[in-house]
Amino acid sequence: MSEPLERTLVLIKPDGLQRGIALELLSQFERRGLRLVGLKLVWPSQTLAEQHYAEHRDKAFYPGLVSFITSQPVVAAVFEGPRAIEVVRTTMGVTRPHEAAPGTLRADYGITVDFNLAHGSANAGDAKREVALWFRPDELLSYSRAIDSWLWR
Ligand code: RTP
Ligand code: MG
Repeated sequence: MSEPLERTLVLIKPDGLQRGIALELLSQFERRGLRLVGLKLVWPSQTLAEQHYAEHRDKAFYPGLVSFITSQPVVAAVFEGPRAIEVVRTTMGVTRPHEAAPGTLRADYGITVDFNLAHGSANAGDAKREVALWFRPDELLSYSRAIDSWLWR
């Protein structure tokens, strides 16, 4: 392996699920070659949402963000692959859909920051913390696919 193999948390937020495009969005990450190692539907509790977004607790948008993420179910997924954290972030595009590059998920499917469809861990520390927050160890599977040898080495 010439690149670091990483795991990262992806959430398809309530807007993605409510719009009926949750699996379409998730498929963009799979199509890039990332390996799905965890997947579930979660209706986040207040505590889970507060822990997940703890870094934003002093920001003006925090109460609305927590109330949004707890309002409806989300899809939680863990993807694995070389530089998975960065690959997910660049596939999603920047936070504000109107600033995101065409071809990214937030640009192609979104328009305002309040409904930007997906979450991806921002860095290695966040990824470790968030994966452990959303998934028990036994919910994450380690396996290989025949196609992996055509995607990375
Ligand atoms: P995320 O954590 O969801 O992957 O998004 P991100 O890193 O691109 O953005 P971040 O700065 O961590 O913000 C987390 C989420 O808070 C909402 N937000 N609203 N109204 C606002 O100005 C505002 N700013 C951020 C977005 O849902 C953003 O994804
Ligand atoms: Mg963030």
